Amino acid sequence: CTDKDLSGKTVLVTAGPTREKIDPVRYITNHASGKMGYAIAEAARDRGAHVILVSGPTSLPQPAGVRFVAVESVQEMFDAVMRDLPESDIVIKSAAVSDYRPKTVHEHKMKKGDGPLVLELDKAPDILKTIGERKTKQFVVGFAAETQNLTENAKSKLERKNLDMIVANNVLTEGAGMGSDTNIVTLMARSGEQVELAKMSKRAVADKLLDAILLLSEQRSLR
Ligand code: C5P
Repeated sequence: CTDKDLSGKTVLVTAGPTREKIDPVRYITNHASGKMGYAIAEAARDRGAHVILVSGPTSLPQPAGVRFVAVESVQEMFDAVMRDLPESDIVIKSAAVSDYRPKTVHEHKMKKGDGPLVLELDKAPDILKTIGERKTKQFVVGFAAETQNLTENAKSKLERKNLDMIVANNVLTEGAGMGSDTNIVTLMARSGEQVELAKMSKRAVADKLLDAILLLSEQRSLR
């Protein structure tokens, strides 16, 4: 896409996994690669947007021409996102954020005992839900990585988190989800529209997603 149809817009994208520390050498994380979020950041950049990419730890090269903010924990991602939210027009939360974190982070490496170990976890702050509560002008997009009841779960997240759109992603399907270079998603808008996309590269998904966001946000500003 050579159109600079996002020029003048600030797009905030989150990508990758988060890491929740257990002790100085151990952490809780997930299989997110960051590929989907990086593809969105690059597509938005190529379409003329000012892009802020808030990324958990990934093995991907840092994209040129975007403001890159490296974070590890949910709390760090929360702080980075809230700081840049007021200046953003579009927020796309593709990061696989941890829902739970250890209740206490041990200062020293935990020692092995004889019996089983019980780790107590607390709920982590929900970044997207907080954005949904605080948003003013922003068009807010969430991702729903599911392994069952995909569209039902995505739809309830869309409403519960007060989003404008959700990208429903069955992460168990071949050629979709975490780590893969391709994805198979359904775009679901708050206004009811729904588009099922065929399997395509994450970059192509990114451009389709940006097309849909532009279309819906233009419709919204006409209302
Ligand atoms: O409810 P669930 O966590 O599955 O929703 C997924 C969406 O919420 C993703 O867009 C993810 O980036 C976002 N999320 C978040 N903060 C959390 C958990 C999820 O922003 N603590």
